[in-house]
Amino acid sequence: MSTTTRRRSITKTHERISQLGWEPDYFQPAIKYPSRYKFPVKAKDPMKHIMREYLPMELEKDERVYGGHDAAVRAEMTSKTGRRWMEIIKPYIVTTAYAEVAAGRCMSMLIDAIPNNELRNGYHIQFVDEIRHTGMQMALARWYAKHVPDPSGWHLGPATLARDPGTQQALNMLSHFIVGDPVQCAFTLQVVAETAFTNIAFVALPDVGARNGDFTLPTTYLSVQSDEARHISNGYATLLTVLQEDENAPLIERDLAQAWWINHAYLDGFGSAIMEYSSDDRSDHESYLDKWERWIENDWYRSYVLKLGKLGLNFPAEMFERAHDRLRRGLVHKNMLGSAAFWMLHFWRTAPLEERDFEWLESKYPGWYEEYGPSWEAFRATRDDPQQFKHLLEMALEGAAPSCWVCLMGCVFPEEMCHRAVDGRTRFYCSKECMWLDESNPGRYVGDRNFFDRYHDWELSDVVRDIGFVRPDGKTLIAQPHIDGDRMWTLDDIRGMDFHVKSANITTAEKLGLPNGSSVGLESPNGHIDGGLREAAPWGNGATGNGGAQRAEVQH
Ligand SMILES: [Fe+2]
Ligand SMILES: [Fe+2]
Ligand SMILES: [Zn+2]
Repeated sequence: MSTTTRRRSITKTHERISQLGWEPDYFQPAIKYPSRYKFPVKAKDPMKHIMREYLPMELEKDERVYGGHDAAVRAEMTSKTGRRWMEIIKPYIVTTAYAEVAAGRCMSMLIDAIPNNELRNGYHIQFVDEIRHTGMQMALARWYAKHVPDPSGWHLGPATLARDPGTQQALNMLSHFIVGDPVQCAFTLQVVAETAFTNIAFVALPDVGARNGDFTLPTTYLSVQSDEARHISNGYATLLTVLQEDENAPLIERDLAQAWWINHAYLDGFGSAIMEYSSDDRSDHESYLDKWERWIENDWYRSYVLKLGKLGLNFPAEMFERAHDRLRRGLVHKNMLGSAAFWMLHFWRTAPLEERDFEWLESKYPGWYEEYGPSWEAFRATRDDPQQFKHLLEMALEGAAPSCWVCLMGCVFPEEMCHRAVDGRTRFYCSKECMWLDESNPGRYVGDRNFFDRYHDWELSDVVRDIGFVRPDGKTLIAQPHIDGDRMWTLDDIRGMDFHVKSANITTAEKLGLPNGSSVGLESPNGHIDGGLREAAPWGNGATGNGGAQRAEVQH
């Protein structure tokens, strides 16, 4: 008996796989994720992956990652890793692990919505990748929880995401992978986040880790990134597929522009905060903006997006330039002031900036010190004295910007802040672009969206207690305004300040004589929706009966 079997070529196997799909005719499946797009008959999965090739490759990569985790224990890595870095990876890993989950769910939506079995094979492989990424990052979180000097915060796990005003912004951005038209979700995830921003999140940020003595996180995240080529390719295949139908063109242009904006509005803050505000090492000659110009502007925008023009797609150049300009004018630096002032609402410790940080930031962003230095100096000087720190909080509150209804970041450029009233409530926006997203996706941005509205007039220690960021002794805060263990702030320190939180959305609306700026206390949870969910988003889950789109026919 022969021990060898003749193997079919990959192309032939791939062809055979795409013939294996069938449509059940014994029941009418419910439309779970209807789309506004028209789907052509033909589509191509350029990667042509089959499990026979895929599984041994991924197994090998997994062995290296988990082997790396073991090696790091033996090397006592965390005793040599930067303390600031070990704090910022708490929100970093929790956030990206959620991004992986959302990416996996997006694949389920695409498999359901896009009637082409060849593309579905590509989405299926990506789905398995995203499960792998989720598993690796959760294992990494567990690894740090076991081995870092101060694991507090890790123990709360993903529950922190919706409670911390900082990571709530991440949850909001990542929900764009799974809420709305599945093709719009694919653009947000595959064409923008994976093609443009994973270079920042999974290559540039792990590089900061390596500079701070951490090799466990880079080992894990670079392994994640090695799968991204496949996802980028899936995004391109999705884009080219819908582009075959002329009537899709305006939808593509709109959805791609919006996908760009929401990625920029949040992820640029995420990248810069980790890279520029959380590193003990200052040897990097590139700023976040330098890396952005290299990867986002040159590699993504110029080499990819602008070339879509040849296929008849116009990406609004102004929206790209506006994002670039907002970064140059200090979008992230301005947002960071509020995040640092309210350090006690985080589930990690915030280290004050010091001389070498000031020097580095000033050298990368001339004029930085004059504008932001005094606030950071004050933060450092008052971190051990609640009564003095209270003045800083009062100043922060006075200068606080409303949070943007769409991206949840601060409306930090007063001249660009805009607003509109919906159902008797004022919604503020950081930019005309965010306002456009809200206006053109009715029913998408709803509910009590603003963290501080919920706690308006609350005494600050009650807020900390309510979000639950307290250590097991019941009084010491998880967050601290320093990373040295000696003096730990407690709930009593916060209560001693007798500081009452105000929502800048509410107070700004009052100052400007606008309708109520609060997002809470509405009669119905969807009270903010223009004219009701069904009318506003007929393709959404609110649709019943015949309100949704029609089921697309499957092409074999
Ligand atoms: Fe992933
Ligand atoms: Fe991915
Ligand atoms: Zn915004």
